[in-house]
Parts: sequence; C-alpha cells; structure tokens
Amino acid sequence: MDSILVKGNGPLSGNIPIAGAKNACLALMPATLLTEEPLTLTNAPRLSDIKTMSNLLRSFGAEVSLLKEGLVIAMSSHSLGTVRADYDIVRKMRASNLVLGPLLARAGEAVVSLPGGCAIGARPMDIHIAALEALGATIELKEGYLHARAPLKGLQGERHKMRFASVGATENFVMAATLANGTSVLENAAREPEIVDLVHCLRKMGALIEGEGSSIITIEGVERLHGATHKVVCDRIELGTYMLAPAIAGGEVTLVNGQLGLLTAFCEKLHEAGIDVSEAADGITVTRKNGSVRAVDVATEVFPGFPTDLQAQMMALMCTAQGVCNLEETIFENRFMHAPELIRMGANIEVKGGLAKVTGVPKLKGAPVMATDLRASVSLILAGLAAEGETKVSRVYHLDRGYEQVARKFKAVGAKVERISE
Ligand code: EPZ
Repeated sequence: MDSILVKGNGPLSGNIPIAGAKNACLALMPATLLTEEPLTLTNAPRLSDIKTMSNLLRSFGAEVSLLKEGLVIAMSSHSLGTVRADYDIVRKMRASNLVLGPLLARAGEAVVSLPGGCAIGARPMDIHIAALEALGATIELKEGYLHARAPLKGLQGERHKMRFASVGATENFVMAATLANGTSVLENAAREPEIVDLVHCLRKMGALIEGEGSSIITIEGVERLHGATHKVVCDRIELGTYMLAPAIAGGEVTLVNGQLGLLTAFCEKLHEAGIDVSEAADGITVTRKNGSVRAVDVATEVFPGFPTDLQAQMMALMCTAQGVCNLEETIFENRFMHAPELIRMGANIEVKGGLAKVTGVPKLKGAPVMATDLRASVSLILAGLAAEGETKVSRVYHLDRGYEQVARKFKAVGAKVERISE
C-alpha cells in the first residue's frame, strides 16, 4: 500500500495545472447510455473512479476507450446487454448510482445495488427513488438491489420537487427526463457547476433543457439523443484544494485553467482569512505574503454555498490560523474524520456533532497519519506542508480516486512531497 511523505519546506511558487472535474465526468459518462451514437469526452481526469465507471459501463455492453493517457474517453453503447450494477462495484463508488436514470430511459429497466454506507455517511437513495418514481418508474428494493422499471410506454414527464437539493438525484432525474414522454420540471434542483456541465453536454446531444444552475430545471422529452463531443469542466474541488497550498505554506502559486466563478463562496472565505486571490491570464493566482492567516467561520452548504468537498482542506488551513473558528458540516453526517488525524499533528480541534471548533496553534508537527476518505487524505498533505518535521499519510488509495499525480503537482511548486510504496 502506498504512502505519501510530506516535509515542511517553506513558501511555494510556480504553476499547478487543474484537471477536468471528477464529479462532472462521473455524471457525463453514464450519459452515453442515452444514445446509440458515440459520445466523446475531452479534458477528462486520470483517476481510479473514472476507471471504475468505465468498467461499470462496459458491464452493460458499452464500449469505453481511454485515449491519450485517459484525457479522452471515447464511448459508444449502440447495444446494451445486462442492466445490472453489481454491489462490488457500487459499494466502491456511489456515483455508480448515476446509471439508474439513463438505463431507465434507454432500456426501461435497471437493477442497481444500494451503495451501502461509506466513511462520510449512510448515503441513502430515497431522493433518487422519489424523483424517478415521479417520472412513472416503479422501484422495489430486493436483497440490497433497487429493481427499477419504466412503464411499457416509457417514462412520463412530470413536475417534481425534491425534499433536498441532491446532486446525484438531480442528475438522474434530468438524464431520465430527456427521453420521457412530455415535459418535466424539477424543483429544488441542485445548482452545482457539474450539473450545468452535464446539461451542456446533453444539449449538444439534442436534449431540450432549460434552467440548469438554477433551482428549477425544465426538460422537454425527445424521441432520441445523438452523439456529441464535450470538454469536461475544470475541477473546482481540485482547484480549491491546491489554492490552499500557498495559503498554508506561504508563497505564490498559479492554478492553470482555474475558473474563479466556480468557487465564489470559497474565495470569499480565503479573502476573509487574509489570502490574496486574483485572476491570472491562464488561471487563478493565490498569494500569501508573510503574516498570519485569520480564523474564519465556515458552514458548508449546497452550491453556491461553501462546498462540503473543501471543508476538510479548509480545516487544515484553520489549524494554524490566528484565533478560533467554527466549521459546520451541514451536508454529510460524518465528515470530520480528518480531525483526529490533524490533532495527532498538534491541532486543537473540538468536534461536537456537525460542528468543529478549531483554535489556531503556531505550528503543526509532522506525524504518521491515516487517510480515511478522499478529501480528508489531501487535507493531511496540506497540513504537512507547513508542519515541523515529516508527515506520513498512509492509505493514499483514497487520494487516487479524486486527485491525479498528487505528489508531482505539489512538487512542481517546491513542496517536499514523495509517494512511496511499502
Ligand atoms: C455528490 O455526491 C458528489 N459526488 C460528492 O462528492 C459531494 O460531496 C456531494 O455531491 C455534495 O456536494 C459526485 O458528484 C460523484 P448528494 P451525491 O446526493 O450526489 C443525502 C467527493 O468527495 N441524500 O447531494 O451523493 C446524502 O446522504 C464526493 O468528490 C439523501 O439523504 O451527494 C448527503 O447527506 C463526496 N438521500 C446529502 O444528501 C438521497 O437520495 C448530499 O447528497 C441522496 C442524498
């Protein structure tokens, strides 16, 4: 199993290229099931989750080729076989549930394992089920699998209001509704940029959709969709993660291809903390001159609020900020597993339910720590950048799910980060 060694090495400087968005790509790939024609994605991230999704789509009979070292994903599902997503794949990657809507729309049925819990929470599927049942699907739970079936005459367009703005349920509803009979309206839809990117691709495929990025999305069903080529939007979570590197270690780093508009709430908090964020010709430049970082309160929210996927990384910055702050996690029920690991490094954090009170300390101390989930793992590397001594992060397979070439990207700006195999 690999580990990552990090040594505090002073201020950083240079450029880090930001890849295409994992969470956009994991929704875009199942869209190939909606058409018999080829769908090609460019600017795709090279991640283990993408490989997992590729294998899942292949299990339905789709052809999926990762070209140009994975930057291009060429897919075609002209004929589908099985419509079953097995537990052993779904439990590893919850995003496998994004095949539900497309399979129902294309094949009229789907058998998808419930994902089971994961490190950050129970991850139920009730909002997905309610949304697809609104379109006329019947969904039964049998032996841990959702057995979904569309009416013989196909899904029926319908107005539906979700109880919570679930990202995945929005994506499943929108994809299913593109081929439904009649018009559908989704209320309390999630507004994340990855949904906007999915709709842009579906529109290129001939879908009739309006309102993406707002809480009300209208989809007019069409007979069929055609193929397309689509460039995956920049990964705002990878972007925010690497923006925190100079914020924590000092110096100046430009995040190439970064788009400020994807992270407004996050950038406001960095500004409040005293970090300088500016638009550069080819991306975003983040500068931390000498002087301390101010503690700022953060509450995670659905987009356009502060992203839950950046909460762990922000906590790493707050560990050595001046003052006390409260980080509130409102999206997932158990997303503070990085806190005990940061405490091993000398952080002063008190967790009570969904609230973490962080009291800044002058310096963290390197220590052996353990990655527990994707975003927690990278927050430990960030903490190690400015810690005294060496930090060893184990179980970095979590990292490979969402961050390509992590050690290489950090080293490019002068950080002492090495990946070792043991
Ligand atoms: C997406 O997960 C992202 N994953 C997550 O990123 C991200 O944290 C999350 O959205 C929130 O922004 C992908 O896009 C592949 P939700 P998703 O449905 O769609 C509850 C990462 O690190 N809920 O918006 O699963 C759920 O338990 C990952 O890249 C229900 O109760 O998120 C959670 O508490 C982690 N019932 C909350 O809603 C449901 O049917 C948000 O879930 C669905 C969700």
